[in-house]
Amino acid sequence: MDDLLTISQVAERSGFATSALRFYEREGLIEAHRTTGGQRRYERHELRRLAFIAAARHVGLSLDEIRDALSLLPSERHPNKADWTRISRSWRRRLDAEIIALEKLRDGLDGCIGCGCLSLQRCRLSNPRDTAATRGSGAVFLPQPLHPPQS
Ligand code: FES
Repeated sequence: MDDLLTISQVAERSGFATSALRFYEREGLIEAHRTTGGQRRYERHELRRLAFIAAARHVGLSLDEIRDALSLLPSERHPNKADWTRISRSWRRRLDAEIIALEKLRDGLDGCIGCGCLSLQRCRLSNPRDTAATRGSGAVFLPQPLHPPQS
């Protein structure tokens, strides 16, 4: 167990709070061994899983999407490059959609986004009397990934 990391070491190196590490372990996204005293000890490769989780959360992926992606990794050995390539391939379409959505947001914010505010001159032309509301909630002129999560 000498080359294993303590929860404080993983928290410091990953940037996640220890409470988050315990949460992700409960969610089955990361794994920890236990010492005879019951303390958590982590394999160093868990740091890459945590970095992956941080990036995924940053681009708005759900815990379920992250869990599905991480389930592609082997549990019986340390993941290698080929394993991570498999994940990035499985995610390519999802990330491409996020990239397109963010580009549209970047380029569309000075125009009417169909949010119902009717506050811009442009809204009168693009969204008279908020007709966009018939298409759903949120900024309906923006791509789906930028719409509020369905409650
Ligand atoms: S920007 Fe809000 S309705 Fe046009």
